[in-house]
Amino acid sequence: MLAKARLPFPVFDYIDGAADDELTKERNSSAYDRCDLVPDVLAGVETIDTSCTILGRKSALPLMLSPTAVQRAFHWQGETAVAKAAEKFGLWFGISSLATRSIEEIADLTAGPKLFQLYVHKDAGLNTHMIERCQASGFDALALTVDTIVSGKRERCLRSGFTTPPRFTPASVWSYATRPRWTMDYLLREKFRLPNLDTHVSEGSSKAVSIAEYFNTMLDTSMDWDTAASIRQQWGGIFVLKGVMSVGDARRAVDIGADAIMISNHGGRQLDGSRSPFDQLPEIVDAVGGEIEIICDGGVRRGTHAIKSLCAGANAASGGRLYLYALAAAGQQGVERALGILKDEIERGMRLMGVNRVDQLNENRIRWR
Ligand code: FNR
Ligand code: LAC
Repeated sequence: MLAKARLPFPVFDYIDGAADDELTKERNSSAYDRCDLVPDVLAGVETIDTSCTILGRKSALPLMLSPTAVQRAFHWQGETAVAKAAEKFGLWFGISSLATRSIEEIADLTAGPKLFQLYVHKDAGLNTHMIERCQASGFDALALTVDTIVSGKRERCLRSGFTTPPRFTPASVWSYATRPRWTMDYLLREKFRLPNLDTHVSEGSSKAVSIAEYFNTMLDTSMDWDTAASIRQQWGGIFVLKGVMSVGDARRAVDIGADAIMISNHGGRQLDGSRSPFDQLPEIVDAVGGEIEIICDGGVRRGTHAIKSLCAGANAASGGRLYLYALAAAGQQGVERALGILKDEIERGMRLMGVNRVDQLNENRIRWR
């Protein structure tokens, strides 16, 4: 894999790694193998429409690019590459609170649908400041991540000592030295910073910390449903809860007036042994389908995974690593290549399924084993 060859191992393991034994990360993708698609034939599929509406905006595919942190550490173009590639393909993308490009820079870059992912910090002033910046910049949606109340135990990161900003350690310096392209880009191009946070905190920007330390010291562990409801009020726009896994919580998300939930276990990076989002879809769709939009996040590696998510009742599929390895390997060009492959797979999959529109992908078209 090109990303593995080009990245120092602490950076690669930060992207590729997950919590504990990484069972959940593996299941997020393999869950898709436990159901089968039932195609129709002779359906007249010369022209098809792969678009749909997600969170009130048109998307060219039933696929979103989930928010992921510190993209400047993966490729010097960072979030800019993902924003531009998403715009080209007409897709939603998210930037993280821990993004290395500012809310304002991203808003200036693209008129496409964009979401800001909020981490609730102990410093309430910082939370309000980020929300106000998103409002002023015209972000289309805010996603509150709720599955990181403490950090997952990411053993690969514990071993490698990955920090933000990345730091060379005795154990990893050889890996940096043998990836001169990454290392020169990191050292010589614009400085690594977290511009949505460094107005209030130096951790992660000028003070190197691990992601686990950041979560465990900077984020508000007292966050609860009242916090979520009040952020929903304060923001006032399209609001998403990211990291909902249970039917009870999906119901509460409806109650606080969320517009969507992302069923997600954070790509297996938090609670190992957690069920996969795809396996949880049917019971959540049964409970709240039609009342709130449902996005299935994690494990998506193929066009047919998005197709299966829709058949199981999701409004869209979403993912992080599906574009991150490509970003790390080749910047914007790499992300475009990955998205081109997924677009092609979704189009081919729809034609082979005998459907012209994504709303024809429904529960009649899959069987569970
Ligand atoms: C993430 N994810 C994430 N989520 C979030 O809400 N805020 C964040 O800052 C990040 N950062 C982040 C970094 C990296 C390297 C990864 C891989 C993931 C989780 C992300 O939004 C999404 O839920 C998962 O990536 C979904 O799993 P897949 O698609 O990677 O299998
Ligand atoms: C992660 C973050 C930052 O999963 O959400 O590493």
